[in-house]
Parts: sequence; C-alpha cells; structure tokens
Amino acid sequence: MAEFLVNEAVEDYAFVNTTAEPELLQELIDETNKNMGWPQKLSGRLVGRTLKMLTALHQPKNVLEIGMFTGYSALSMAEGMPEDGKIICCETNPRAIEFAKTFYERSPHGHKIEVIFGPAIETIETLDMELDFTFIDADKRNYLNYYEKVLEMTRPGGLIVLDNVLWSGKVLQPESEIDDVLVEMNRRIAADPNVENMFLTVRDGMNVVRKLR
Ligand SMILES: C[S@@+](CC[C@H](N)C(=O)[O-])C[C@H]1O[C@@H](n2cnc3c(N)ncnc32)[C@H](O)[C@@H]1O
Repeated sequence: MAEFLVNEAVEDYAFVNTTAEPELLQELIDETNKNMGWPQKLSGRLVGRTLKMLTALHQPKNVLEIGMFTGYSALSMAEGMPEDGKIICCETNPRAIEFAKTFYERSPHGHKIEVIFGPAIETIETLDMELDFTFIDADKRNYLNYYEKVLEMTRPGGLIVLDNVLWSGKVLQPESEIDDVLVEMNRRIAADPNVENMFLTVRDGMNVVRKLR
C-alpha cells in the first residue's frame, strides 16, 4: 500500500487541520484496524474528505465505486450526495462486504449504497446507466480498462476520481506491469482533449477527471 510521499509531519499537519470524519466513520476505521486484514487499504481522512467535498459540490445521483473494502470511501461519498442518489459498489471480498453492511445499516446515508459482489470488470458490463461520478480504487492492473469503460458510461460534465495514481512514487521510475499501466493511464488522461483533470498529490495521488464532451 501507499508509503508516505509527502513529508510525514506535513501529512500529519494536513490531517489535523482537515474536518474530522463523522464518529461512525472513526469507529469504522478502528474496527477495520482490529478485525480486517490489511487495514491500510482504507483510504482515510484526506481522501475521504476530498470525496465528500466533491460529491457535496457535484451532487451526483448515479455513482460507481470500484473497490469498496470496508465502506469508508463509499460512506464518505454518500454523505455528500443528494437523498435520492445511489452508489453501486463493486467488491470481491465477502468478509469486507459483510463488515461494510453493518455500518451502512447504522448510517443515515447507508440507504444510498448498493453492493455488488464480483469482479468489477464483469459487474460494469451488466450496468446500463449514465454515470455522474466514479471512484476507482481496486485492481491497479486493470485501471486503464476501468477508466476507459467508465469514461464511455459517464455523462459530459461527470467526474471520475482515480486513487493511488502516484503508486508510492513508482510512476516516476516504472519497473513493473502495474507501474506501466498507471503511467500510461495518467499520460492518456493529461493528453485527452475530451477531458480536463487535476492531479492531486493527496496521500498516494488522486487524479480527478472531468468529462467535457
Ligand atoms: C484499496 S481497497 C478499497 C478501499 C476503499 N475504497 C476505501 O477507501 O476504504 C481495494 C478493494 O478492492 C477489492 N478488489 C480487488 N480486486 C477487485 C476486483 N477485480 N473487483 C472488485 N473489487 C476488487 C479488494 O477486495 C479491496 O477491498
């Protein structure tokens, strides 16, 4: 998972000076740390509050999440969405799904979240909808495939947010197939006249892409 790319003291400073997530999400972090393998998968406050801010500003009704884990990012996005908004979450880990659902049941925003078990590539093929907002956060090998498929399904003006686009800095000196996928994806996004993007150095890098046409 992501190593600190930003100086740790700066990262801590940003953390304490960012709005805290609701208590339920703090409990979700604690329980994930205690009970689930590899708790570092959870994106955390800086990414979560960025997602909440984006959904609060953008007011998306049709949202897709690729890689839900224990539900931290899904609940963060749901918090900013309108009451009749809906997130479809793709996840392959049944234990993570079971865990996340216990928190959705307790959240005033949980009714906006639908979970679909199975590989995201297969789930996306079954969806017949126009997307307003997507968060991509799983299975880096397929990032470019997810991005291209989701871009087709996104309405003009819609947003796609990709997490871990710095990949612990490995995009600067790519050595593996996954490094190459991320480098190629970031390059294509920046060169595409049909989208505009901002590449944020938040945590492990977030690429925020807006479809223009
Ligand atoms: C980095 S974690 C997601 C973290 C979550 N978005 C958050 O911020 O709390 C990635 C998740 O994607 C799931 N996953 C991995 N491969 C997948 C696939 N092909 N389709 C759907 N989910 C997948 C993993 O089980 C894992 O829970």
